[in-house]
Amino acid sequence: MANMSDFEHGIVVAMTGASGAAYGLRMIERLGKADIRQHVLISDAARVVLKQELDVILPESPEQMGAFLAEYLDVGTEDLRGYALDDWFSPAASGSAGIRHMVIAPCSMGTLARIATGASDNLIERAADVMIKEGGRLILMPRETPLSSIHLEHMLKLARMGVHIIPAMPGFYHRPESIAELVDFMVDRLMSHLGIKNEGGKRWGG
Ligand SMILES: Cc1cc2nc3c(=O)[nH]c(=O)nc-3n(C[C@H](O)[C@H](O)[C@H](O)COP(=O)(O)O)c2cc1C
Repeated sequence: MANMSDFEHGIVVAMTGASGAAYGLRMIERLGKADIRQHVLISDAARVVLKQELDVILPESPEQMGAFLAEYLDVGTEDLRGYALDDWFSPAASGSAGIRHMVIAPCSMGTLARIATGASDNLIERAADVMIKEGGRLILMPRETPLSSIHLEHMLKLARMGVHIIPAMPGFYHRPESIAELVDFMVDRLMSHLGIKNEGGKRWGG
């Protein structure tokens, strides 16, 4: 189990344009309720998916986006800050800021590929690159089907570097009765891979 001081400098939470925007929002909500400081990054494609899947239209400015998400998810504004994807002076852009945890949920195949090749072309890719070079904990929740050999090779390459690949593949053995339960099944896995105490999380054999 992680010590809360492990999150002293916060965590980077990114959403990209794969299907499953609800996973990202729920993750931000759960981290907010756990009083963990979040640096939130949302790709342009993720904004399109948020509108398509959940009718959520995010404000353009990063400050307003952070405030909107805090209100929408009912979490404290002081712990949640949004950044533009070209904000190279933000904490997520440098290893010296001391952030050692990052989650990308959902993670598109495009972002996955760019992380696997070290593109660092926007703040999400750069923050992931920082996490890998600094030996931090990087957790990706990819979503695509079927998976091509390109996708699988990128995932294998990253997994071999120690990146946690947690695909958006909820189980059904707990007999979910709602989409919210399926979403929580996956978000529980993200929380437990971050080492955060998981109130209500379902465990095999539990
Ligand atoms: C409604 C919608 C659903 C999408 N679903 C997926 C998906 O499940 N997986 C994926 O890799 N890309 C998906 N895409 C395509 C990505 O959004 C697209 O490749 C985009 O360039 C990814 O950009 P990003 O990595 O910067 O977010 C979807 C796009 C839309 C609009």
